[in-house]
This record gives sequence, structure tokens and C-alpha cells, in this order.
Amino acid sequence: MGNEKCCVVQCERNLDQEYWDAQYKANVTGWDLGKIAPPIKTIIDNLKDKNCRILIPGCGNSYEAEYLIESGFTNITVLDIAPTLVQNLTEKFAGNTNIKIILCDFFTHQGVYDLIIEQTFFCALPPRMRQKYVWKMHQLLADSGKIAGVLFQKQFEVNPPFGGSKEEYIALFQKAFTIVKMELCENSIPPRANSEVVIEFKKNPDVAVNLYTFEGITCSGCMENVSDKLAQINGVMNVSISTDFSKVLIVSTEEIDLTALQFAVSYDEKYKIKKATVTN
Ligand SMILES: C[S@@+](CC[C@H](N)C(=O)[O-])C[C@H]1O[C@@H](n2cnc3c(N)ncnc32)[C@H](O)[C@@H]1O
Repeated sequence: MGNEKCCVVQCERNLDQEYWDAQYKANVTGWDLGKIAPPIKTIIDNLKDKNCRILIPGCGNSYEAEYLIESGFTNITVLDIAPTLVQNLTEKFAGNTNIKIILCDFFTHQGVYDLIIEQTFFCALPPRMRQKYVWKMHQLLADSGKIAGVLFQKQFEVNPPFGGSKEEYIALFQKAFTIVKMELCENSIPPRANSEVVIEFKKNPDVAVNLYTFEGITCSGCMENVSDKLAQINGVMNVSISTDFSKVLIVSTEEIDLTALQFAVSYDEKYKIKKATVTN
């Protein structure tokens, strides 16, 4: 329960377009390394196909994209929600046909990618959005696609960034993705040493990954009961509920009929489960 309460308090600040744009306008970008992060460079140096479709969401100043271009990659997309930043990037990469720069909310973006690079984007989102992140990542990847990058393995006093642990990431991504790699990062920059894991999560194309809105859960005990009931449905492989109890991610062998989900939680009339959309 402690974590959920903490999150509700910490997330009172709206981490929306206005918030992020204000950070770039005021030049308050403490996350910005001024150069490519060494673990991301290692990932890029090991890529073989220079034409693979690469997305960097929440791209910030995009040193990774600069390095990809220098290294001969031809199909790079970077996106960010902050207009001031995206205007700067558009000028910085003007005339380069190997890169697309998109101003948008990641959750509304459409496309198909072989590789999505994660670098301090996941940790910038409120933790209640993590189930939505997994859902969206699964949608954006080609069948053989993967997420590669770094995730924090620590908690922070001041948020964002929002931290996490290996156990939490496994519970969140399992079944929708095969966890090919999640190990302590050996070449983090010194301030992040021993606090990052390098990840490689391969999309599992043979499962249905669906996101639902949920109403009526008020505590983590109820959350566990709901999770157990949904997990017992034939075909369900993983259930993950958001920290504010408003979203449920279900991974299953095939999409579960909504009436079966509604029936499973009908033991409490407060509970309402519906299919989520990108905007809720
Ligand atoms: C902590 S910064 C990291 C930037 C960059 N990845 C880096 O490592 O320097 C998080 C970035 O995510 C962007 N962002 C936050 N929410 C977003 C969303 N919903 N869709 C797209 N970008 C978002 C912010 O504008 C910001 O540039």
C-alpha cells in the first residue's frame, strides 16, 4: 500500500506537455548527458542491420540519434511531446532524410519498428502509466522487434525520475515480452553507476496484449483479489494492475471476451472493467 500512496502524492504534478516544454524553455534538463549514454552506444555498436526501423520515444536532445546517423543507420524516428525541443531538433537535423522527428504524445503514435531504444523515457512517466507503456510498446514493435536500453534499478527521493526494480519489471513485462537480458549495467556514467540495468526485451508476437480501464478497487488487497480472479480465466498468462488501480494489462493466448472479464470480477458490484483507449 505504501508505494501506491506515495505515487498518488508524487504524481500530483501533471507531467504533461506543458510541464516538459517548460523544462526545455527554462533549460532545466538535469537528465541530459550532453552526449550519448555509453550503454546505448554499446547497443548501437552491436546492431548489424543499418536499415532497421528504430524509434527513440521521449528522445530529448537525441545524442543517440546523432550517433545512429554517424554510424550509417538510415531509418530513425525520434519523438517527443515538448514543442520547444522538437523545434530545436528539426533545425539540428534539417535536410537529413535518415531521420524523422515527430512532435507527439508517445501513446498516440502509430508505426512499426524493429527496435525501440529506451533511455530515461520510462522513468519520466508517472508509474501509473507503466501498464500502458507495455501495451503501446507491444503494439509499435514488429513481430521480431525488441526494446533495448536501460532502466533504473533504484528508487528516487524526488520524482521524476521514477525508479523501479528488476522484480517489478519482470512482473510488468513478462509474457508480453521475452526478457532476453536484464543485468547490471557495466558502463553507466559515474552518477548512475550501480543503479541501471541494461535490458533487451523481445516482443512475444504470439500473445494478445490488452489494456482495460478498471473502476472500484480501493486498496492493494482488493487489487490482489481482482488480479487472482482475472488470472484464473482460461488463456490468461499475466495480469498487471497500475499503481492507481485504474488500468489492467492482460496478456493472454488470445483476446479474452470482455464479458468473461466482467463476469470474473462481478463478485463486487463496484467493479467495472472496460477496454482502454489511447486517450484514457
Ligand atoms: C527525462 S527526459 C529524457 C530525454 C532523453 N531520452 C534523454 O535521455 O536525454 C524525458 C523525455 O520524455 C519526454 N516525454 C514525456 N512524456 C512524453 C510522452 N507522453 N510522449 C512523448 N514524449 C514524452 C519529455 O519531453 C522528455 O524529453
